[in-house]
Amino acid sequence: MQPGKQLSTSIDSAVPTAARMYDHYLGGKDNYAADRAACEELDKVVPSTRALALNNRRFLQRAVRTLSQEYGIRQFLDHGSGLPTQDNVHQVAQRIDPSTHVVYVDNDPMVLVHGRALLEQDERTTVIHADMRDTDAILAHPETQRLIDFSQPVAVLFNSVFHCIPDSDSDGPRAVVRRVTEHLAPGSFVLMCQLVSEDPAVREFVTDFMDQATQGHWGRVRQEKDVAALFDGLDILDPGLVEVSTWRPDSEVAPRQLTQEWIEFGGIGRLR
Ligand SMILES: C[S@@+](CC[C@H](N)C(=O)[O-])C[C@H]1O[C@@H](n2cnc3c(N)ncnc32)[C@H](O)[C@@H]1O
Repeated sequence: MQPGKQLSTSIDSAVPTAARMYDHYLGGKDNYAADRAACEELDKVVPSTRALALNNRRFLQRAVRTLSQEYGIRQFLDHGSGLPTQDNVHQVAQRIDPSTHVVYVDNDPMVLVHGRALLEQDERTTVIHADMRDTDAILAHPETQRLIDFSQPVAVLFNSVFHCIPDSDSDGPRAVVRRVTEHLAPGSFVLMCQLVSEDPAVREFVTDFMDQATQGHWGRVRQEKDVAALFDGLDILDPGLVEVSTWRPDSEVAPRQLTQEWIEFGGIGRLR
């Protein structure tokens, strides 16, 4: 990562964050009036965002279950993990195999506080306060070193996070994916999805709105083709890259997104 990117260590309740807005959409309690007000404004332009967020979370849970159950993955590195909610990655994976190791990474200080409280008794799961673009620091972190064996397959998760970082040759989504995958054993997996819109007016409005609301802690709403480009060189699991509520749906009834101004789009790739 380029030098100069500062990690915030203090919580400012007056400035909305992606983590707390997402928590509000999921029905959580770890958010403030400023986060809820920003969601209300956003809903005027993209009214299906709550359904989108719920479906995104369910996709993550199905994907983790699939990676554990069908592909035998026992190590997860989750970038931009978010505030703890119900059925977090470690709970889904450890229900299938309690020996599964999980490293959560997030740059929101509130995630660190709540994550640590949740994980106090769990030796196999940890949360690291880091910028997801800082691959070297994340991989060299003593907790990552303790919990992840990079000579064995790992599932690296970027679920609904790349819209939080801007394009950049050295630090944009493509660069980050390239840097991480260099360290992964064959048979590892990379899960990626992000907010996309094929409507330029929506892309522009939401990108500007979120950039202002979060005081610059935001990236860009992209297009499906931008997400597809991140999977270059990876074998994409069935059903391919899709709106995530349609990725291997299970028997749970998913909330229907009544409008489609923006969607969460992505899937899972495997390293040869
Ligand atoms: C929409 S939430 C997604 C949470 C979770 N991955 C999920 O899909 O349920 C985006 C998360 O990414 C985190 N985030 C945003 N930018 C980040 C960065 N540069 N480094 C680490 N985490 C970041 C936010 O704090 C937030 O928790």
